Amino acid sequence: MGNIFPRWTNLLAVKVFVCIGALGTCVIALAWYSWTPKHTRVGYMPQQPIPFDHSLHAGQLGMDCRYCHSYVENSSHSNIPAAQVCWNCHGPGKVKSDSPKLEPLRVAMDENYEGYTGEPIKWVQIHETPDYAYFNHSAHVNRGVSCKECHGRVDEMPVVYHAKTLSMSFCLDCHRNPEKSLRPVDEVTNLDWTADDLDPDDFYAYLAGKTGGNAEALKQDDAGKKWGQDLIGAHLQQVWNVNPPQDCAACHR
Ligand code: HEC
Ligand code: HEC
Ligand code: HEC
Ligand code: HEC
Ligand code: HEC
Repeated sequence: MGNIFPRWTNLLAVKVFVCIGALGTCVIALAWYSWTPKHTRVGYMPQQPIPFDHSLHAGQLGMDCRYCHSYVENSSHSNIPAAQVCWNCHGPGKVKSDSPKLEPLRVAMDENYEGYTGEPIKWVQIHETPDYAYFNHSAHVNRGVSCKECHGRVDEMPVVYHAKTLSMSFCLDCHRNPEKSLRPVDEVTNLDWTADDLDPDDFYAYLAGKTGGNAEALKQDDAGKKWGQDLIGAHLQQVWNVNPPQDCAACHR
């Protein structure tokens, strides 16, 4: 996929060259490199073959992310759904099956369609880590890190775009303070969730179950502390023993 950013790839080579010259230049160059918008890709919103609307399907219709991105919990990679998944609802005689917007779906699926080829829909990939960095979805999703933290409010986007930088400092900011982002695992795909949606009694009962302690006593210990993300996150970090890596080799293998 290097063709999306051919220019900064070339620039990188130039900067590596400059870096050999002087360490000071290197620091400036790296900082510049990390902060330029082209590098962070924020806002990148390519045109897709079908104008697929997340705010309709995931927002209004309330479809869970995992209905389509079904590998996200079990694999390092989060898949884009096969055309069959769309076909379940948009096949012949079903929802909007004749919509001109769904032409590429008929090309992929409808053997009776004159333009049928069986070719998969060519979605354009938006988020991509460089080859030299390792990333794993399931390691995050199963530790109570919501899609929202890294992709923004996709359930409100008519067209998906690159909402967060996903730069190295972005990864590390969270790895240093994960309590700011941890939530109950079953709320990971509920992008609307906030700490206020959690019932304190249920939460302390959960903690008691995990620690073998007494829910009422745990609650007493927290008396006077503000109920909110930081408090919930700190507890979850402790009972799940969450310790995100910060050493270079964890992400650059
Ligand atoms: C009905 C199926 C469906 C559902 C439900 C769905 N998605 Fe998607 N998603 C897609 C398709 C198709 C694409 C590729 C086209 C596009 O980018 O819009 C996609 C693309 C994405 C992308 C960008 C992928 C890339 O190329 O980098 C992200 C991020 C994403 N979805 C997150 C979510 C989240 C979070 C939810 C739940 C709130 C969700 N999706 C629900 C079908 C779905
Ligand atoms: C669970 C059922 C379901 C699935 C699965 C589903 N959709 Fe939809 N889709 C709908 C509904 C319902 C509407 C709204 C129809 C309406 O406006 O009357 C819709 C609307 C659309 C529209 C707008 C059509 C128009 O002409 O206004 C597009 C485009 C679309 N879906 C694409 C997709 C794609 C691509 C996939 C697969 C990634 C997909 N849908 C998966 C139910 C589904
Ligand atoms: C900790 C950050 C993080 C979280 C949490 C996260 N993602 Fe991602 N996502 C990424 C990164 C980084 C990439 C680019 C990965 C790559 O290049 O393989 C990505 C890529 C994707 C893609 C595109 C895959 C492709 O090959 O086109 C989809 C779809 C996606 N994520 C969906 C989700 C969904 C759904 C959730 C929540 C259940 C989620 N992500 C949670 C960071 C995250
Ligand atoms: C919002 C918080 C958050 C963000 C952002 C985040 N992480 Fe993580 N990361 C975590 C948590 C929580 C864990 C789980 C630690 C544990 O299980 O002890 C984790 C674990 C990991 C691990 C170790 C698990 C494994 O798969 O080997 C790697 C590697 C990793 N993250 C890479 C990344 C990269 C690369 C990015 C940026 C693209 C990133 N993370 C962004 C919170 C985050
Ligand atoms: C939590 C995961 C993580 C850890 C830990 C990590 N990196 Fe990275 N690093 C990344 C990611 C992701 C990128 C790619 C960022 C992008 O796509 O913009 C990256 C990019 C880089 C780059 C390319 C320049 C840049 O800033 O984008 C260098 C050099 C680098 N890392 C060195 C290091 C060194 C040295 C360490 C140890 C001190 C380290 N990394 C630790 C995730 C990590």
